[in-house]
Amino acid sequence: MDRIAIIGGARLNGEIPVSGAKNSAIKLMAASLLTDEPLRLTNMPRLADTRFLGKLLMRLGVSVTESDGADGQQTLLHAPEITSGFAPYELVSQMRASFNVLGPLIARTGQAKVSLPGGCTIGARPVDLHLQALEALGAKIDLHEGYVYAQAPRGLQGAEITFPIVSVGATEHAMLAAVLAQGTTVLHNAACEPELIDLQECLNAMGAKVEGAGTSTVTITGVARLHGATHSVIPDRIEMGTYAVAAAMAGGEVRLTKARPGLIDSLLDKLEEAGCGVERTADGVIIRRNVERLKAVDIETAAFPGFATDLQAQFMALMTVADGESRIRETIFENRFMHAPELMRLGADISVSGGEARVRGVSQLEGAEVMATDLRASVSLVIAGLVARGETTVSRIYHLDRGFERLEEKLTACGAQVRRIQGDGEPEL
Ligand code: UD1
Repeated sequence: MDRIAIIGGARLNGEIPVSGAKNSAIKLMAASLLTDEPLRLTNMPRLADTRFLGKLLMRLGVSVTESDGADGQQTLLHAPEITSGFAPYELVSQMRASFNVLGPLIARTGQAKVSLPGGCTIGARPVDLHLQALEALGAKIDLHEGYVYAQAPRGLQGAEITFPIVSVGATEHAMLAAVLAQGTTVLHNAACEPELIDLQECLNAMGAKVEGAGTSTVTITGVARLHGATHSVIPDRIEMGTYAVAAAMAGGEVRLTKARPGLIDSLLDKLEEAGCGVERTADGVIIRRNVERLKAVDIETAAFPGFATDLQAQFMALMTVADGESRIRETIFENRFMHAPELMRLGADISVSGGEARVRGVSQLEGAEVMATDLRASVSLVIAGLVARGETTVSRIYHLDRGFERLEEKLTACGAQVRRIQGDGEPEL
């Protein structure tokens, strides 16, 4: 299994272009099931997660063609007909968001058999809200032996749906299904994340009538059919935030480009509060850390525009070497502190109780062997490795490959000493 080795101590200086957002790209890819015409997605990240979903879509009858065009990486998805409505466990279990093919399949063909996504390392993460939304739209849902059997032979019907808690995935799933329903659907207590606005824009470019994404009420007026479109994937705010934290951690000056700073104001504000220089530019942000140590600051994760749970692990890594004690509260997912014991292997001083971690900054981390436990946790270990004395190796980096495009290349271009070790080989740094 591949590992990443980092030799700590180098400052970061240079430019990092931000890729298209993974979390948006995989929902947009699922939208290709809704039309028999081609959907062209530009600014596409090439990641393990987009490959997983591409594989699943091909099995359902979608042709998936990747190319490098003048405006960057593209994926052309074309489903002239759905040849299978079956999404098997071995594909869905590799990536939870694959479950989002269920709604489009029902909307287009009136039936589907899709595996439940199964367990996940960051809490229980059920799909009850997804299923409730699809039932409200008139799908008949049965669960047997780990599979969802769904039927809507006469098509889906618009409905008023009030989510009991805010869920990004369930809001997106309901949008993907309701665009082809008869009548109007109103989603109350919808998630407001920027990826929902991206999905709305793509669906509308395909001929859908969706309004209100980015607010807590989304209205979808069903249409009889959708057509092909070209859509550029929104920049990845989590990748942007991750490199902003990496620059704040290692010191130096890093310019993040092809990004939208307004998508991570909550993080940038916290970096400034900690003493880091933050300059917003037209297409990104410049992060400068000239002081020796940042100040400890507290964070609490929240739905957008609050502090993103997907940046919590990275921020915790930053706080391990800050001056003072930081309190980090996680409110979105239970059990999302699995990076804490790994950071402690590097010498961090952290105690976790319930949904809160207290991080007492130390003056120096020490390199060690650590293990990635989930996507964002794994990158927090790489960030910690950037300042740990000596060498840090991170194993189980398949988590990292799910969501960070060319991570080693982007960091190395700014002067970091980061290297992938294939298999069980020894690092050559
Ligand atoms: C998405 C993002 C993930 C991010 C999260 C929160 C993708 C692929 N993933 O995940 O990176 O961390 O939003 O910003 O876009 N819940 C239920 N029942 C459900 C669905 C969710 O109880 O049917 C709960 C979850 O367990 C969690 C909370 O709702 O506690 C929020 O989860 P949700 O917003 O749905 O996250 P995801 O869409 O899975």
